[in-house]
Amino acid sequence: MPDIWIKQLTKRFGAVTAVDGLTLEIGHGEFVTLLGPSGCGKTTTLRCLAGLEEPDAGEIFFGKRCVFSAQRGVFVPPGGRGIGLVFQNYALWPHMTVFHNVAFGLRKKKLPRAEIRRRVMEILNLLGLQGYENRFPSELSGGQQQRVALARMIVTEPEILLFDEPLSNLDAKLRMTLRAELKRLHAEIGATTVYVTHDQVEALTLSTRIAVMNLGIVQQVGSPAEVYHHPANLFVAEFMGNPSTNLLRTRVLDPGPPTRVALEADPTVTLVLEGGKIEGDAEEVIVNVRPEDVEISASPMEGGIAAGLSAVLPTGSECVTYLRLREGEYEIVSKGPEEMHLYLEPNQRVWIRFKRGNVFDEESGTLLFSFGFKVPGGKG
Ligand SMILES: Nc1ncnc2c1ncn2[C@@H]1O[C@H](COP(=O)(O)OP(=O)(O)OP(=O)(O)O)[C@@H](O)[C@H]1O
Ligand SMILES: [Mg+2]
Repeated sequence: MPDIWIKQLTKRFGAVTAVDGLTLEIGHGEFVTLLGPSGCGKTTTLRCLAGLEEPDAGEIFFGKRCVFSAQRGVFVPPGGRGIGLVFQNYALWPHMTVFHNVAFGLRKKKLPRAEIRRRVMEILNLLGLQGYENRFPSELSGGQQQRVALARMIVTEPEILLFDEPLSNLDAKLRMTLRAELKRLHAEIGATTVYVTHDQVEALTLSTRIAVMNLGIVQQVGSPAEVYHHPANLFVAEFMGNPSTNLLRTRVLDPGPPTRVALEADPTVTLVLEGGKIEGDAEEVIVNVRPEDVEISASPMEGGIAAGLSAVLPTGSECVTYLRLREGEYEIVSKGPEEMHLYLEPNQRVWIRFKRGNVFDEESGTLLFSFGFKVPGGKG
């Protein structure tokens, strides 16, 4: 039995359907991220889970317990749901010390003083906040304040943790540190977690599974590797990845196997895509290749496509290049090791190969098959 079971959840605000028939099962101890662009319904979904928003339709179960059901008229208020919440604005009580901020929830439960002290100190230790217990929030950095907010939530040992962009107000470096801390914390306390973010790196690094959303609808639910390497549709393919992935319009020459397609922009370029075949009678398909799966060579290679280099952008840890297949047309982006910029120059002629990728139906935008993966349909 899942720990959280969301069935056909719908929430409207006037004419806007913020969440549209969302169904999702979350297992015990999972860390599931709701990921998607601004306005896709992430916060609304989380607020429905928390009981801060009353949905228009659907049901929500926490374990066996129904906390919301439109058809049966069930609505358990936030306080009765056994959840912990952390939002982007962590709103600590400014007139209370770190200790009292964290102890607040335990006080309300009327636990003995010694027990409260022990548990608060334990949590502060766990989050690297020992020595700060007598400070006021205004005497802490943003990252420390956010850690106090985490401590305050965890100390009451909720069974379900809900986060809404808890790291987005912090600078990049601190975000990275706290990401690692959140991951360690989750491994340690094992609470079932739903985490909202529009930051794909955050989702990829933290989650056991990711639910990619658009326009109130879940587009795909899968492990980080699944949504990244085997996107269910063009929206997910485009949304994941930085720089943006390469989507090439092609014409089908042979449905396969092996599948053969020709680039629409340059029909003299044909690609052989091994790993599946095109079912049905699609004449046009879109081939998706991640920048890091575009191989570049300064000399001709077998199966290589001649290309011109338009820009070489070393970033310190890697090198991004922009390529064109025909004079000035058809940009392809590649990403490789930093050293690449040592032997590549703008306007140089190079040869490229696509190591692996995905084939999408042009009309429906859905995934037909993945090619070039060592384990078909797998992560290799
Ligand atoms: N209280 C409200 N009243 C009216 N419309 C709302 C309300 N809350 C959310 N919406 C609308 O519902 C849709 C989903 O909003 P939501 O806040 O869930 O998006 P989100 O995915 O969290 O976006 P972001 O990444 O920007 O936080 C949006 O179109 C938003 O304008
Ligand atoms: Mg939001």
